[in-house]
Amino acid sequence: MSDHRSPDTGFRTSLLEENDGPAVNPTDNRTMGEIIAARFSRRGFLKGSLAVSAIAATVSPLALVAADDARAAEASAFTFDELEAGIDDKHHVAPGYDADVLLRWGDPLFADSPEFDPAKQSAEAQAKQFGYNNDYVGYIPIDGSAEHGLLVVNHEYTNPHLMFPGIVKIVDKDGKKAAEVAPLSKEQVDVEMAAHGGSIVEIRKDGGKWQVVRDGKLNRRITSNTEMQLAGPAAGHDRLKTNADPSGTKVIGTFNNCAGGVTPWGTYVMAEENIHGYFSGELPEGHKEAANYKRLGIPEGAYEWGAHYDRFNLAKEPNEANRFGWIVEVDVNDPASVPRKRTAMGRFKHEGAESIVAKDGRVVFYLGDDERFDYAYKFVTTGKFNANDLAANKDLLDDGTLHVAKFGEDGTVEWMPIVFGQGPLTAENGFASQADVLIETRRAADLLGATKMDRPEDIQPNGANGKVYVMLTNNSKRKAEQVDAANPRASNAFGHIIEISEDGGDFAAAKGKWEVLLKCGDPSVAEVGATFSTATTANGWFGMPDNCAVDSAGRLWVATDGQGPKATGRTDGLWAVDTEGAARATSKLFFRVPIGAEMCGPLFAPDDQTAFVAVQHPGDGGEDWEAFGRPSYYEDLSTRWPDFKPDMPVRPSVVAITKKGGGKIAV
Ligand code: FEO
Ligand code: CA
Ligand code: CA
Ligand code: CA
Repeated sequence: MSDHRSPDTGFRTSLLEENDGPAVNPTDNRTMGEIIAARFSRRGFLKGSLAVSAIAATVSPLALVAADDARAAEASAFTFDELEAGIDDKHHVAPGYDADVLLRWGDPLFADSPEFDPAKQSAEAQAKQFGYNNDYVGYIPIDGSAEHGLLVVNHEYTNPHLMFPGIVKIVDKDGKKAAEVAPLSKEQVDVEMAAHGGSIVEIRKDGGKWQVVRDGKLNRRITSNTEMQLAGPAAGHDRLKTNADPSGTKVIGTFNNCAGGVTPWGTYVMAEENIHGYFSGELPEGHKEAANYKRLGIPEGAYEWGAHYDRFNLAKEPNEANRFGWIVEVDVNDPASVPRKRTAMGRFKHEGAESIVAKDGRVVFYLGDDERFDYAYKFVTTGKFNANDLAANKDLLDDGTLHVAKFGEDGTVEWMPIVFGQGPLTAENGFASQADVLIETRRAADLLGATKMDRPEDIQPNGANGKVYVMLTNNSKRKAEQVDAANPRASNAFGHIIEISEDGGDFAAAKGKWEVLLKCGDPSVAEVGATFSTATTANGWFGMPDNCAVDSAGRLWVATDGQGPKATGRTDGLWAVDTEGAARATSKLFFRVPIGAEMCGPLFAPDDQTAFVAVQHPGDGGEDWEAFGRPSYYEDLSTRWPDFKPDMPVRPSVVAITKKGGGKIAV
């Protein structure tokens, strides 16, 4: 997949979100050199060669491999008939399952919301409708129910060329059709701002099918204009003060909310990821934030918000960008509550915030920083979770210790505390307080010598087996001399998954063990070095792991971002991945998205009878798909999923997957 908002097309594609720009980590933190720990490379080699043999086995039977296949397939924890991988304009789910569209971009969420009219969309209407590009999906039960709850959904970003009529012109460029996008009007920018953020929507299962409760009293839209409070150690710091907010505590809005989480006390946390795209203009000459912003790629100027709102223009409001890149916590039980940006959890390109209660009651959040050569983090609260009085956990996230991971060649992982005054995090290196350390979390982690990873996406703790899964989506820029044990492939096009076992089974531990669960990509191509089990079929392998989930049985489900006609010859989707026993590293395709889309969510209802998935940016692309073969935009779309009506554009949507006739998924 290619670049950010492409200069060719002007499209703000999924790739902006993919963070495919220049790596901005300038440090030469040791990538642990060329040493690849023998046990990992050996394991990879063995699996790779077995996988190749498995293909050969279809023409010349190899009893040994066939037996191994059968054993692994039999041992799989997942029971369903695998879906066929492929590419078309629709979604598909494994046989025996229904995949029903539950919430679409523009769906009314309140009794007084206007119906969706894409030809005349307004910011006012959008602020009362389901937003664009759904990413994280969480479920918060009402009265403990698995069939009645709040669905919380992030709206990560916007694709103007798919959203607005009349702004794309097709031109000939270098003998190929290319699309030019006109500058957006202020009204269109306002729609974009209202389409970002999150939705909190009451849903109920009725007769086996989920319904939206349109007048649910807790329904809420959070947008780039929702007032929020900065909380924790950096709140009120001079570097967070602006003309509009001399207190440094009051921020307007959130954006690029990628994945997130639901806390053990039932709040909704949203991760602010690619914030650099929203800022434009230049800092005043010699400004003290220059190095800080450079480390985050700010400004990138992919969005035109700065042309209409001074706060996104660095020349006019140089501190505004320090007020984004945080984890936002929302109390869903009060639609008037002011969301809080929890500065104790650090500032970077936050992918998600999945959490779990540790043995001693402290709460642990795993946090990825999605950029090539950036880091994996965990935050451990100082206080303990109070299960008897959920409101008592209200400000737990304002006090705790952020740690960054160093993956050793010997298979240990060390979680290094990021604390002002400890080690290099002192005045000598330009930090005057913990607030400074948190505002420049990446630089602090650089100084600590953290391990540079291949784009950390979702990091998921698994309470059922005590493990933690780290999705590393890809890193085409890693050179052979930068390969290390935890990032073992140069030009890592397909990504990998690391499994961590924290010491003593304690999620709050300072150390753990790790190993590579899976190197992704096509296992039939030996050079790719993929390590799926030999029981994995030609449909079962995948590349580019991104969001993931564990169901209540502790089984791992992986969603992908960035496959497609050219990358892997299949669309993105949801795969079930075995982690235990003889079936370990066996993968099966369960659901796939229409052309141009990325698979987000996924989330299992507490009874495992529903899998919610989010289909993000469907129809974004089509040039490389033979059946379409040209740029896709509002008037000429590669798919009109999910409505397939000529006057209705493609719409990012949340889909609810249930078993026909009921029952747990994949059991
Ligand atoms: Fe928004 Fe890193 O995916
Ligand atoms: Ca993601
Ligand atoms: Ca997840
Ligand atoms: Ca993504």
